[in-house]
Amino acid sequence: MIFVTGGAGYIGSHACVELLMAGHDVTVFDNFSNSQWEATERVQRIAGRTMTVVRGDIRDVQALQSALRASKAEAVMHFAGLKAVGESEAEPLKYYDNNVLGTLRLLEAMVACDVKTLVFSSSATVYGIPESLPYREDHRLSATNTYGMTKLVVENMLRDLHRSDPSWSIGILRYFNPVGAHSSGLIGEDPQGTPNNLMPYVAQVAVGRREFLNVWGNDYPTPDGTGVRDYIHVVDLAIGHVKAFDYLKTREGCIAVNLGAGSGHSVMDMVRSFEAASGRAVPFKVGPRRAGDLGAYWADASLAAELFGWRVERGLDRMCADTWRWQSMNPDGYKGEQ
Ligand code: NAD
Ligand code: UD1
Repeated sequence: MIFVTGGAGYIGSHACVELLMAGHDVTVFDNFSNSQWEATERVQRIAGRTMTVVRGDIRDVQALQSALRASKAEAVMHFAGLKAVGESEAEPLKYYDNNVLGTLRLLEAMVACDVKTLVFSSSATVYGIPESLPYREDHRLSATNTYGMTKLVVENMLRDLHRSDPSWSIGILRYFNPVGAHSSGLIGEDPQGTPNNLMPYVAQVAVGRREFLNVWGNDYPTPDGTGVRDYIHVVDLAIGHVKAFDYLKTREGCIAVNLGAGSGHSVMDMVRSFEAASGRAVPFKVGPRRAGDLGAYWADASLAAELFGWRVERGLDRMCADTWRWQSMNPDGYKGEQ
C-alpha cells in the first residue's frame, strides 16, 4: 500500500493512475484545498481499480496518524503542499505552515507508524541562479523565493533525518516543468483563478477563455529571446515516481534526483507546438520580463536514467496534444460538464 498525500492534485492524480496500473494499492490523503474529489473518481475510472480516499490535512496529527495506520502503508509519496510562488511571497507563513510544518507532522507520523520509505516532491527551483547548465544534482542549492525556501528546508530536514537514522529510504525528486495531461482527457491541470504557469494559460487562450498570452520578455540570451525551460509530460513524471519507488524499496539512503527531459524549449516553441496540436491560434503580446524569472534552465537527467532506468518518452507534441484534449473536453476543469 502506498500512501499518497496530495493525491487529488495535478501530479498526484497522475501518479495514482500509474501506481494503480503497476499493481500497487493506494490511499490518497488530501484536504482538497487545491483540488476536486472528482479527480479521484476519474483516476479510478482510468485505472479500472479502486483506491481509498481520505479527506484530511497533513497538519492534523490525529487524522494523519489514523489514516496512515489504517492504510498499513509501506511507503509515502508526499505531493501535498502549496506551490504558487507569488502567493508564497505575499503569505510566507502560510507556506511554512503547509509545506514545512505539514511535512514535519507527516514525518513524525511516519516515525510513529514505522514507515520509513518516502518520495518527496521537490523542485528545480532549489538550484536558484544557474552556475552551470544543465543543472546537475550536485549544483549549489539556494532559494530565490519563499516557496523555493520551503522546498529547501524540507530537503535539509530529510537529509538530517536520514543521517540520524540511516534505515530510511528517501527519494527527493526535483521536478522541472510538468505539463500535459493523461491521454484519456479525464484528468489534467485545473488551476483555480488566473493560471500563473505557461501551459494552462496557453490552453485557456486556445479554448477562448482568455484573449491573449502575455509573453514575459523576449530579450533573454536564448535563441528566440523568450524564456527556456525543461518541460516534462506529467505522465512521464508520474512513471518516474513508480520507478523511484521500485528503486527505493530495496535500498536505504537519501538521494536527490532530477526528473526532467534533459532539454530546453522556449515560450515560442511551446506556443507554436500548441497551435499545431490544437489547430487553434494562440494570440500573444510580448510584455516585460516577469520579476524573479530566470532566462533559461534545463536538467541533466542522466542520474534518473542510471538509478531508476527512467527517461522521458513523450515530446512536445504529446504534451500539447494531451493538454489540448483535457482542456477541450473539460473547458471549465473538473467543475464543468464533460
Ligand atoms: P496541486 O496543488 O495540484 O496538488 C497538491 C495537492 O495537495 C492538492 O490536491 C491539495 O489539495 C493538497 N494539499 C495542499 N495542502 C495540503 C495539506 N495541508 N494537507 C493535505 N493536502 C494538501 O499541485 P501539483 O502541481 O500536483 O504539485 C504537487 C507537488 O509537486 C507540490 O508539492 C509542488 O510543490 C510540487 N511541484 C510542483 C510543480 C509544478 O509545476 N506543478 C513543480 C515542482 C514541484
Ligand atoms: C514557475 C515558478 C517555479 C516553479 C514552477 C513550477 C515563478 C517565478 N517560478 O516556474 O518556482 O517551480 O513554476 O512549475 O513563478 N511565461 C510567459 N507567460 C505566462 C506564463 C509564463 O511568458 O503567462 C513564461 C515564463 O516567463 C517562463 C516560461 O513561460 O519563461 C515558463 O513559466 P512557468 O510555467 O510559470 O514556469 P517557471 O517560471 O519555470
